[in-house]
Amino acid sequence: MKHLRLSLVGFGVVGQGFAELLADKHADLKQQFGVDVTFVGVANARHGFIYREDGLDIPRILELAAKQHPLAEHPGITHWDSALGGLQASSADVLVEVTPTNLRDGEPGMSHVRAALAKGMHVVTANKGPAALAATELLTLARQHGVQLRMESTVMAGTPVISTIREGMAGARVYGIRGILNGTTNYILSAMASGRDYAEALAEAQARGYAETDPTADVEGYDAVAKTLILAALIFGRTLKPEQVVRRGITTISREQVQTALDGGKRIKLIASLRLLASDDEKGDALEARVEPGALPLDDPLALARVDGVMNALTIQADTLSEVTVIGPGAGRMQTGQGLLADVIALTR
Ligand SMILES: NC(=O)c1ccc[n+]([C@@H]2O[C@H](COP(=O)([O-])OP(=O)(O)OC[C@H]3O[C@@H](n4cnc5c(N)ncnc54)[C@H](OP(=O)(O)O)[C@@H]3O)[C@@H](O)[C@H]2O)c1
Repeated sequence: MKHLRLSLVGFGVVGQGFAELLADKHADLKQQFGVDVTFVGVANARHGFIYREDGLDIPRILELAAKQHPLAEHPGITHWDSALGGLQASSADVLVEVTPTNLRDGEPGMSHVRAALAKGMHVVTANKGPAALAATELLTLARQHGVQLRMESTVMAGTPVISTIREGMAGARVYGIRGILNGTTNYILSAMASGRDYAEALAEAQARGYAETDPTADVEGYDAVAKTLILAALIFGRTLKPEQVVRRGITTISREQVQTALDGGKRIKLIASLRLLASDDEKGDALEARVEPGALPLDDPLALARVDGVMNALTIQADTLSEVTVIGPGAGRMQTGQGLLADVIALTR
């Protein structure tokens, strides 16, 4: 039996969903994969970092969080005021980093990920900030310390796209990808295709909890840009800056434009794409990166009815397989927890 000791930093929607999932699947993981997973550290912003060498009682911590009690009420723990201080002073095999995404400087996740890798801990994350801004640098840091950095849940949550490309399609030459990577905008555009105007569709998405009160990151395309940067680094090994991605959001799309597209047998979608452009110079092929609305014919896999609402999809173009399309949920506490779980299991192989 392999023993894996985890520290979980970020105990909000995704962190708690992941903790619940691991508690549910603890016995299955032992039986199917021969791995016994224990949480030794848990942190949030309000209560800091708690640590117990012999493992924390997860149902107890979930109950403390549900009642808004300090996590430090868990018996027999050592406490630090900050996650970073706790991470640096304690020991675990894996950091699961699920603090909020910040696309300006990646903090606080960036410091957590760097500190853990530098200590020789594997890192599994759903946080798009560090992954979008510094995936290549962080992957190098992981290699230097002989550990893994895995980030399946940063793109399409637990729907396996990163592992599909990097592991399932190993050896194929990928030359392009096109995806619907933001559920909020897809929901709004689907609602507009059913006759709502933009403001009505946005209000509906907000009422259902699919869009934030400030929806800018989604509707202006920044979230999709972050995912595009992550895929550029992981698939093509290219470090792009956000401003190198051509970006246009959906705020100026009118109901009339959506209707005209429908009349012509097309659907408007916010499409994120990466494409290798052949070049003769010694610098190699250039990589074109775009996030913008486009009208897709109904037989395009990304325009299928199943890719409506909050669903996500990614089409991968490769030399040996022509086109592969992965469709699945792109958000949600359990769905994102699944991506983290798959990454944790992958660490033990
Ligand atoms: N929700 C999804 O469906 C989804 C899907 C894919 C990826 N993600 C990514 O997963 C991450 C977590 O999302 P979420 O929905 O769980 O967010 P959330 O509910 O806002 O939870 C964030 C957690 O991080 C904690 N935190 C903030 N700053 C911290 C710090 N300096 N040290 C320690 N903990 C800190 C917060 O503490 P407090 O509780 O004290 O505020 C909270 O517990 C984000 O990066 C998000 O982009 C989410």
